Amino acid sequence: MTTATGDRTAHRPASLAARAAMVLRDNDTGTLVTASPRLYPHMWSWDAAFISMGLAHLDVGRAVQELDTLLAAQWRDGMIPHIVFTSDTDYFPGPDRWGTDNAPQRPDGVRTSGICQPPVHAIALRRIIDTARRTSAADARTAEEFAARAWDAMYRWHRWIVRHRMPDPCGLVTIVHGWESGMDNSPRWDSAYGGVRPGPDLPPYVRLDLLKVDDPGERPSDDEYDRYLWLIEQMRRADYNPDKVVETSAFLVGDVFITAVFALASDTLAEIGDEVGADAERVAELRTWAERARTATAMSCHPETGMARDRDVRAGRWISTESIAGFSPLLCGGLPGDVEDRLIAALDSPRWTGHPDLLAAVPPSVSPDSPDFDPRQYWRGPQWPVVTWLFGWAFGRRGWERHASEFRAQGVHLASDGAFGEYYEPFSGKPLGSTNQSWTAAVVLDWLCSV
Ligand code: SER
Repeated sequence: MTTATGDRTAHRPASLAARAAMVLRDNDTGTLVTASPRLYPHMWSWDAAFISMGLAHLDVGRAVQELDTLLAAQWRDGMIPHIVFTSDTDYFPGPDRWGTDNAPQRPDGVRTSGICQPPVHAIALRRIIDTARRTSAADARTAEEFAARAWDAMYRWHRWIVRHRMPDPCGLVTIVHGWESGMDNSPRWDSAYGGVRPGPDLPPYVRLDLLKVDDPGERPSDDEYDRYLWLIEQMRRADYNPDKVVETSAFLVGDVFITAVFALASDTLAEIGDEVGADAERVAELRTWAERARTATAMSCHPETGMARDRDVRAGRWISTESIAGFSPLLCGGLPGDVEDRLIAALDSPRWTGHPDLLAAVPPSVSPDSPDFDPRQYWRGPQWPVVTWLFGWAFGRRGWERHASEFRAQGVHLASDGAFGEYYEPFSGKPLGSTNQSWTAAVVLDWLCSV
C-alpha cells in the first residue's frame, strides 16, 4: 500500500475509514494483527487492546478473537506479557534474547517477553461491547458472551498488578522497565535510567529497528538500548520471578500514567463484571483497587503546578517532567474540583494543546515549551494518536463532551493524510516511526465510526 505523507485534503472520512480498515486487514495474520508491517511484526499488549476495538467496527467476532489471542499468552500468575511473538525473526529483542522459556509461570504453546504494558484491556472490552450493542443483537451477544468468559482472566491480570506492583497501599503502580510504561524513552525516565549501569557482561546485540525507519534519529539512542537490554539481562537472571525482579531491578519507578489507567480500567472492569454477573466479591475488590490507585494518582500532584508526577523508588524522589503523564488524574478523577479545573486549563493552555504552532490541537508527548522537547524523537515530543484517543474517551466518560469531541476531530485531522503513522511531528504533522501502524488505524476508525 502506498502512503500519502502530509496532504490533509487527500482523504475524506469515508475513504480514510476504508484505508484504516485496509491497514488492519493487511496486518492481520489470521489470529493476530501485528503492531505494524515491518518495524513490529508481533503482537504488543496495549496495541492489541486498541486494535481490538478498531476491529469491532469491522467484525465483532474478529475483535474478541484478538483479545483471546492475547489472553492465551497470559502467564499463569496473571501477568499479560508485553509481546506475544509470531514466528517472524526480523525483530530485536526476540524470544531467545528475552529467554522466558524457563520461567515457571510462562504460558504453554506461545513465546512471549517477560514484562508488561499499560492495563488498557478492560477499556477496550468496554468499547467493543458498546460498539457491538449499537450494531446488532447478534454482535451484542458475541461481545457479552466473550466478556463473561474472559472476565476472570482480566481480573487475574489486575490482581497480578496489585500483588506484585502495588506494594504500598498509598503508592503508585511500579514498573521495572521503561518499555512497561509504553512510553519507552520518555524524558520521564531519564534520571532513573541514569542509575542503570550496563555490566561488562551485557551480551552483544545488533539493533534491527534502525534499519526500518527513515531516520534513526526518530528512535531511542544506542545508550538507551544498552540500558534496556541490561534490564532484560537482570530479569533473566532472576528467572522472571516477579518479586525477585522488583527486588533486583536497577530501574524501579512508580508510573503515574499506568496508575491512573489502572484505576480507570479497574472501574470499567467492575462495571462490566456487574453486567455479566461476575463474582460480587471480586467486583468489589476491583473497586477498592481503583480507589487506591486514584488516591495515589491524586497524591502525586505537584503542590504548585498541580501536575501529576512519577516517583523514582530507587532514588526516593519525585520526577517532575513536563510530559503528558502530568495530566493522568484527568483520566481517573479523584482531584478536588478547583485543582482539576486548573489541570484542565493547563492542558488547554499554549504550553500544551493550545500551542499556536501545533498542526492539530492534541497533546504532544512532551510540552513544546519544555527543554526536554524534541519534535521528532519517539516519546520525547511527537503526538501519539492512541494517547489522544485514551484521554478523549476518558473525557467523554467524565461528561466533558466538548473536550472529547475536540480531541476526536483534531485527532482525525492529524491522521487524515492516510499514512497512519506510529507518531507525528507536532508542527508539520509528518508521520514518523512506522507507517500503517495498526493501533493508529484502529483509533482513527473508532473516531470516524463514533460521529
Ligand atoms: N516499543 C518497543 C520497541 O520499540 C518494545 O516494546 O521495540
